[in-house]
Amino acid sequence: MLFKFILLALLGTLSLSAATPLPQEGPDKGASDRLVFCHFMIGITSNRKGAADYDDDMKLAKGLGIDAFALNIGVDPYTDTQLGYAYESAAKNDMKVFLSFDFNWYNTGQASAVGAKVKQYASLPAQLKVDNKVFVSSFAGDGLDLPAMQSAAGNEVFFAPNFHPGQGDFNAIQGALNWMAWDNNGENKAPTPGRNVSVADGDKAYVDALKGKPYVAPASGWFFTHFGSEVSYSKNWVFPSDLLWYNRWQQILGLSPRFVEIVTWNDYGESHYIGPLSSPHTDDGASKWVMDMPHTGWLEMSKPFIAAYKAGDKSVDKYITDEKLIYWYRPTPRDVNCDSTDTTMQGSPNNASGNFFTGKPNGWETMQDAVFVVALLKSPATITVASGKVSEKFEAQAGASAFTVQMGVGQQKFAVTRDGKTVMEDTSLKDIVDTCICGIYNFNPYVGTVPPEKTIDKLQSDGLAMLTQGLKVPCATNTLGGSRSPAPRSNDTWLFMYTAS
Ligand SMILES: *[C@@H]1O[C@H](CO)[C@@H](O)[C@H](O)[C@H]1NC(C)=O
Ligand SMILES: *[C@@H]1O[C@H](CO)[C@@H](O)[C@H](O)[C@H]1NC(C)=O
Ligand SMILES: *[C@@H]1O[C@H](CO)[C@@H](O)[C@H](O)[C@H]1NC(C)=O
Repeated sequence: MLFKFILLALLGTLSLSAATPLPQEGPDKGASDRLVFCHFMIGITSNRKGAADYDDDMKLAKGLGIDAFALNIGVDPYTDTQLGYAYESAAKNDMKVFLSFDFNWYNTGQASAVGAKVKQYASLPAQLKVDNKVFVSSFAGDGLDLPAMQSAAGNEVFFAPNFHPGQGDFNAIQGALNWMAWDNNGENKAPTPGRNVSVADGDKAYVDALKGKPYVAPASGWFFTHFGSEVSYSKNWVFPSDLLWYNRWQQILGLSPRFVEIVTWNDYGESHYIGPLSSPHTDDGASKWVMDMPHTGWLEMSKPFIAAYKAGDKSVDKYITDEKLIYWYRPTPRDVNCDSTDTTMQGSPNNASGNFFTGKPNGWETMQDAVFVVALLKSPATITVASGKVSEKFEAQAGASAFTVQMGVGQQKFAVTRDGKTVMEDTSLKDIVDTCICGIYNFNPYVGTVPPEKTIDKLQSDGLAMLTQGLKVPCATNTLGGSRSPAPRSNDTWLFMYTAS
């Protein structure tokens, strides 16, 4: 079929890096005191050289409506240097930040050390305060001596840790974060039909335990981790993910909690990052499944949902300002066998954590072989998705809607048409293949958008440092847009309008 192209250059900036914040209710505007946080791993940003290295993250997050980064910290020697940069950049970019103590590294006997660290940052201008108290959170930490922490902090603390109902003392805290943004089996693995603790079950347990205190509800898009014997922290499992990013935001609008925490900005190792691959970071070995897998389309998808959430609206529809499709899929069908070359099949890693499995990630059966498409539209349209040889059409209503298409090997094409005319269309830069990319099982999704983003998001050299470690086959690096003539990309945002001829 032949098409005549009409190219409309859009002035202004639909682009991510220059995103103009939408008018929205924030904590100091209107009646809403709802806030959106995003979990940020300081543990992989030791390579940043100054506050300026945090500016892009701060601007991008703020443009989306994220109010504060939850700065996850362990006890690494570079932590204070990086926290200094992050606080400085946040202040410069009108963002807020707060400490989130990771009790994988801290222990619950360190209440005074935790309090002292809170005190060290409490008076910096970018520190998030809620109800005039210094906001602090955690990953795990049930059993921390709260009066000792409060007293060492020397400030009134709004402590919203990731305590667990039935374990931590919910009477002594000001709020709580639920980390479990994925349906699970109650033992940190994928659910099975008989053992299923859904995300909504977690919401209920927290809301009940909090008895009216503020709940920090989690929102995540995915979970896949695949570390083998090439590192000491071997772990290999998935949680059911598929349409989670869309379904969870719909749930959040219904639940309307005081706070939402996006899990995460940059935890590449667990595949739940929404921040760019190009955000400066070191490689913990995750590049094997993160390279060529941008997720920033998810960040675009969340923007109207964040605006709706802050306004207390149950529907996202009237917050959609830019029409677009966001799509994602794993790069290979799940029955492809990579056992002979996969990293988790080599050596004999320590499994003291109970998180290590060989071969396909534990829980793989909970992932569908599908292409997921979210349409954000201002008026009804026909969505066409061609996944490999099979093409499907859907009638989409105005507003947000989601579609699932059977995964097909080959090119992935997406189009929006109205009255027989193509409004926008694109071919993904990532084909689905039935071979093992870099030799491994990769259950991380590729996320794309129509119209496409103006630049191809890529890992930088620090983020690729461990790519080949443990691999059994050659692994082509940063291939997106390289293998066939890529869709036109420019530094302006283009809207492609096609007229059939
Ligand atoms: C777990 O429960 C959720 C919510 O009811 C459901 O959507 C999901 O399919 C269930 N998963 C399994 C493995 O049973
Ligand atoms: C690691 O431990 C978990 C929990 O005991 C177990 O289910 C799993 O099979 C173990 N992995 C291997 C490779 O033995
Ligand atoms: C961006 O666009 C301008 C105007 O079209 C052009 O002059 C410039 O070279 C472009 N820059 C890049 C990096 O492509």
